[in-house]
Amino acid sequence: MKKKKITVFSAIQPSGNLTIGNYISVLKHWKNMQNKYKCIFCIADLHSLTSIKKKNFSYKKSILDTLALYLACGVNPNKSIVFIQSLVHEHSELNWILNCQTYYQELIRMTQFKTKTKKIKKKINTGLLNYPTLMAADILLYQTDKVHVGQDQKQHIELTRNLAIRFNTHYGKVFKLPEIFMFQIGSKIMSLLDPNKKMSKSDLNQKNVIYLLENLNEIFNKIKSSITDSDNPPKILYDSIKKPGLSNLLIILSALSEKSIFEIEDYFLGKSYFELKKEVFNIIKKHLTKIQKKFFIYRNNKSYLINIAHEGAKKASIIARKTLNQVYKNLGFLKKKYL
Ligand code: TRP
Repeated sequence: MKKKKITVFSAIQPSGNLTIGNYISVLKHWKNMQNKYKCIFCIADLHSLTSIKKKNFSYKKSILDTLALYLACGVNPNKSIVFIQSLVHEHSELNWILNCQTYYQELIRMTQFKTKTKKIKKKINTGLLNYPTLMAADILLYQTDKVHVGQDQKQHIELTRNLAIRFNTHYGKVFKLPEIFMFQIGSKIMSLLDPNKKMSKSDLNQKNVIYLLENLNEIFNKIKSSITDSDNPPKILYDSIKKPGLSNLLIILSALSEKSIFEIEDYFLGKSYFELKKEVFNIIKKHLTKIQKKFFIYRNNKSYLINIAHEGAKKASIIARKTLNQVYKNLGFLKKKYL
């Protein structure tokens, strides 16, 4: 087999409630990406500490759910490194060092921070502020060439590059500069009833969101009641400004069927919005039926999942440690004896 030269890194915060948005923008691509690139897929459990959870929330459950979902979507631990962030302590170590390279002014300017804090009425934990720096640590530890993310993470990758440049310039080159890797269609899926905002697993209105493990009848009802527009006769045309709801459905259909928007518009010429919605449901059903079936098989095999997590962490640690050693060396710190 040809040796894969380019390292791709990606991660999702663990939540059993991953959405069709997570699937279309990132997860769906991982199966094929593994054949071409050296892929590192992380479950970012430390990141998920930044949002306050309900009392009965179980991290263990959501981490294992997410791992099972990765596998159900085609991630293969023999082809890729699959691991859980907190099992590789180098992430927290590098995070601190990079914190001391990050400006407070940079972090308060981050769009995601601003939107998230606007929603929070109570006190805001500083983990939420430092979130992008931990992300930079995730990426830079692996000498990543390409970071695969959805559109909303673009600004965090720009920060990652700036931190890498800053460190390299000041202390000598350690980090590779990562590039952003995004797919044209579907890098941002919008919510069903409010197509001007991103579909988010933490949305208070459940009708906005389609979950990967959701019951298919429920999904049908959600799609049926999704917002389109009142054009009469109906016009099935992509126009993200004038027809955001309809355009979102077209993007979902295009991404999942791998047909172009033009082809779809052509096919639906003169047809009703309900016909489009039925087709959107059918394609979602096709993908989710397989995923859900596999998910339950993996999820019922807890010892297998835990074994994969530990094996993945071992492989990830080797790469991460190497980078971190170089970081300490360049900083001029003493090296640990046992290393
Ligand atoms: N912040 C990302 C998200 O919510 C998840 C993530 C954490 C990530 N660390 C990362 C993505 C490193 C890419 C690279 O989608």
